[in-house]
Amino acid sequence: MSGHELDLDGGERATFRPSGPLRGSLVPPADKSISHRAAIIGAIADGPTRVVNYLDSDDTRSTLSAVAGLGAMVNPEPLNAMPEEFTIEGVGPTGPRSMGRIDVGNAGTLMRLLPGWLAGCDGGLWRMNGDASIRRRPVDRIAIPLGMMGAEIEVTDGRFPPIRIDGRRLTGIEYELPVASAQVKSCVLLAGLSAEGPTTVIEPEPTRDHTEVMLEAAGARIERGPGRVTVWPSRGLRLDEVEVPADISSAAFFMVAASIVPGSEVVVDRVGVNPTRTGIVDVLRRMGADIDLEPLGDGDGEPIARMTIRHAELAGTRVEGAEIPLAIDELPIIALAACFAEGETVIADAEELKRKESDRIAVVVDALAGFGAEIEAREDGMRIVGTGGLRGGRVDSHGDHRIAMLGAVAGIASQEGVVVDGMDAAAVSYPTFSQDLGRLLG
Ligand code: S3P
Repeated sequence: MSGHELDLDGGERATFRPSGPLRGSLVPPADKSISHRAAIIGAIADGPTRVVNYLDSDDTRSTLSAVAGLGAMVNPEPLNAMPEEFTIEGVGPTGPRSMGRIDVGNAGTLMRLLPGWLAGCDGGLWRMNGDASIRRRPVDRIAIPLGMMGAEIEVTDGRFPPIRIDGRRLTGIEYELPVASAQVKSCVLLAGLSAEGPTTVIEPEPTRDHTEVMLEAAGARIERGPGRVTVWPSRGLRLDEVEVPADISSAAFFMVAASIVPGSEVVVDRVGVNPTRTGIVDVLRRMGADIDLEPLGDGDGEPIARMTIRHAELAGTRVEGAEIPLAIDELPIIALAACFAEGETVIADAEELKRKESDRIAVVVDALAGFGAEIEAREDGMRIVGTGGLRGGRVDSHGDHRIAMLGAVAGIASQEGVVVDGMDAAAVSYPTFSQDLGRLLG
């Protein structure tokens, strides 16, 4: 199915030739969003948290290093491979060590969540920075509400990392999010844990609620109503144990691959199906995908399921409004599915795509157009006219893990194959992606 080689610039170039069908079963890697939260909330807790199935990826290793640097002991420490389970010894809400510099690597979730905790730790001083992609991603969206709570935060050019956090005592606020963002919501809620009085976040549309679920499990006082969530200052949080489900955002690549490659049947097991994450299932089913979902339980408020996906003829659809935050990271791979569908697909209200690991409107449209798709970029998304297939071609991942994996799936489903420059970016969320794809292709 594929060949991998090193580029001259040290990135990995991989070729994905037309192949299939995909058959067999897999458990995708652990959920990235929940892993970040397990490390951060585990560090804020008083006492130990046992974490089972933490994601072994570049992003989540950055988070574990950050909390370890802040004084939260991780035992056993992850060396070459992530241990199947480990313990984080929390330092308490105002107990992090003032450690100076924190390197977030490529991890936007770490960059936006951690300041919520640190901003309220009076007397601490931290500087956070990351790679070139992180330095293009806006953090004014967290600096503004934290500033309203009394935080001392300096960002670069009014908008970007690096950021400097000078810990202060905070006061609770009521904050209406200007854009639907689980990262910003989570940041403000974490700040609310040590603020004076209650802190309320109002969302324009529901976004992933893993922070609320985990804080509730840890014993924080949280009140949730339609479109709003309030947290009260909470001491003595105890998380005890988090078992991280498999990541539906990683599963999405196989859901689409199995849907578009004739003869495929794939079982994706132990996937997290929190309803704030399952937009991809609704969109693909509406397009005609054959997806069976068998519930497997509901550990700590995060439901998991076994999915069976069989090849199906797809039709175009519209993805917009409240569905966008529920499928935000899956929109690139939905765009690929749309190329194989019959008729028009429009993705609208998704301007936020421009602010992900790459500009995912421009990069997805360029990539798919380069493979022969009939596709145009729009200010808030894209329009695709499905032609039932793709020729293939070449794509640069732009260091964006989801673009690298999109290129791979496009390649195996295409007529001529796809060369992905920078396939190593997949390690940000899914280091073993190519091997898993190869195994399902036999
Ligand atoms: C995430 C929220 C989303 C998502 C990101 C992970 C999270 O970002 O795109 O990959 O874990 O909270 P926004 O909050 O910027 O929408």
